[in-house]
Amino acid sequence: STSYEAKFRVWRGDADSGELRDFTIEVNEGEVVLDIIHRLQATQAPDLAVRWNCKAGKCGSCSAEINGRPRLMCMTRMSLFAPEDTITVTPLRTFPVIRDLVTDVEFNYRKAREIPAFVPPAGLAPGEYRMRQEDVGRSQEFRKCIECFLCQDVCHVVRDHEENKQAFAGPRFLMRMAELDMHPLDEASREGLDRQRAVQEEHGLGFCNITKCCTEVCPESIKITDNALIPMKERAVDRKYDPLVWLGSKIRRR
Ligand code: SF4
Ligand code: F3S
Ligand code: FES
Repeated sequence: STSYEAKFRVWRGDADSGELRDFTIEVNEGEVVLDIIHRLQATQAPDLAVRWNCKAGKCGSCSAEINGRPRLMCMTRMSLFAPEDTITVTPLRTFPVIRDLVTDVEFNYRKAREIPAFVPPAGLAPGEYRMRQEDVGRSQEFRKCIECFLCQDVCHVVRDHEENKQAFAGPRFLMRMAELDMHPLDEASREGLDRQRAVQEEHGLGFCNITKCCTEVCPESIKITDNALIPMKERAVDRKYDPLVWLGSKIRRR
């Protein structure tokens, strides 16, 4: 038969305390970890708290840590593990637990709100914007983000370092700032905004030492480090040490 009994170890608790609980539970061919969590709810743990929505890797809700690795539960096939493995499911470590597998990801929404929006070009209506395909392509990759916050969870700058959260936006939001800074039509400076200064001084780009853990866990395979964070660092360095290089790069982009 293609069914078997798997050993699961699931974190149960709340903001104050908790512990890992062991379960033995049926697994059928083609199932993902989220299916097993749902079967636990239906059978042995009816009050197990879990956040999910689409079951298709698109809503970014079902983020958790499976054997210590940040993953989407709905996109993690049980066939990844051997039937004799014990599969440990724990809540995202970087954010406060609300209950069981559900964490409070408010940190991320706070960081999102701190980033000033796109400033449209003066005197142009939205239908009149013109961009080169090359510029469109660059930001299209970043816009695949489903806001699962797995990258935010894994980054060592804030994982186990509550004290860095104030000064560091995390890879998802540094990438958002890179996206805006690379946008050829963004006129933030017209509103007195300096995105390159802000990303360094207010959002902690300098904390990132390009370990690429964020890129490794991204379920959308966005090259966060290579395509957003490193280019952003290079721009900031150019500008810091050589204002003419920076000015030149701005002019060439138009
Ligand atoms: Fe998730 Fe990738 Fe977006 Fe980070 S960049 S929040 S890992 S989809
Ligand atoms: Fe963190 Fe990614 Fe940089 S994991 S240190 S933001 S490369
Ligand atoms: Fe939507 Fe997993 S349930 S991404």
